[in-house]
Amino acid sequence: MFRELPPALANNGTDSHPGLRRVVSGFFNARRVTAAIPVIERIAQDLLDDARARIDADGEYDLFTSFAQILPCRVLMQLLGIDGIDPATLIRWSDASLELFWGRPTLERQLELAELVGEFHQWLTRTANSGTAPTDSFIAALARHRLPDGTLLDPATAVSACFFVFIAGQSTTGQLIATVLRRALAEPGLWPRVTHEATLAEAWVEEVIRREPPVTTWRRVTARPVDLAGVTLPAGAQLLLMLMGSGSDPDVFTEPERMCPSRSNIRHHLAFGVGRHRCPGASLARTEAAVALRVAARTLPHVRPLAEGAEPPMLGLLSFRAPARVAVA
Ligand code: HEM
Repeated sequence: MFRELPPALANNGTDSHPGLRRVVSGFFNARRVTAAIPVIERIAQDLLDDARARIDADGEYDLFTSFAQILPCRVLMQLLGIDGIDPATLIRWSDASLELFWGRPTLERQLELAELVGEFHQWLTRTANSGTAPTDSFIAALARHRLPDGTLLDPATAVSACFFVFIAGQSTTGQLIATVLRRALAEPGLWPRVTHEATLAEAWVEEVIRREPPVTTWRRVTARPVDLAGVTLPAGAQLLLMLMGSGSDPDVFTEPERMCPSRSNIRHHLAFGVGRHRCPGASLARTEAAVALRVAARTLPHVRPLAEGAEPPMLGLLSFRAPARVAVA
């Protein structure tokens, strides 16, 4: 199905791409992201108040499933004007899509995942075609959008655009928040500092994005023949770009393996890609992760990682890597 989605965003090399991308960027531009900070803080605080109560009652808690994963989903629903669906269902659909398209599931597992992805596609189709979306919502903006030939966007392409935005906007950001929390909890002295040192949370998030981004690789196809580092690639060559490695390049970063939030060139990595498909959600992802870290450190000042030093279970797909559990006590 993924291969059959009509060209919309990441899978679109046609002249309809810039216009569709503008619709997405309009929802996640710097002004909108700044205006969303109070919303992100409120949702984070809600989730972490629950976490605090559960830790007081049970002694331990998983900050991945109960916080890191849910925060971006609820923020996205708010920004895109989506309601009437449980965030847990959207997360299940989005994660199933990642595993089906970027994992190596057994045949039996592929069938289970295909069921979930099919449900996701049907829900997106119903939602996009319902005609009931509020006028300021993403779905309504897509319905108003005109293609370069002046025609309105067809429903299948609108569904394809929603599919990319939903997956990109929630799973990857949840994965980033999980790694940010895990590394911050393990770094001596950092947890209390982020609550009172302005911009430390932002800088810590950037170092995590540089060193351990959730999107480790990305597939691309060469549009024309190109010479790259002495190798000639023909048009149509299938590439796997090692985005994560760009943040640990010793020619760019001094002591790349060291977490150093005061680096002057902290953003010189390719974790969000580059060029005409560069991630339009980068600013939202960075902001959500910094808010998540600051509110977590403020609300849960005494938590410590459980099983310190041990490797947690990891999500490891062709293009996505992150801890699947951030257990604290
Ligand atoms: C830490 C979180 C995130 C990471 C690491 C990430 C990374 C990426 C990467 C590597 C690409 C491909 C870039 C390229 O081909 O050059 C991409 C594309 C994209 N991302 Fe993100 N992303 C994140 C969060 C988000 C969020 C929050 C949204 C939306 C709210 C989003 C929406 C998109 C979309 C729509 C595309 C396709 C853009 C196009 O093809 O024009 N991403 N992202």
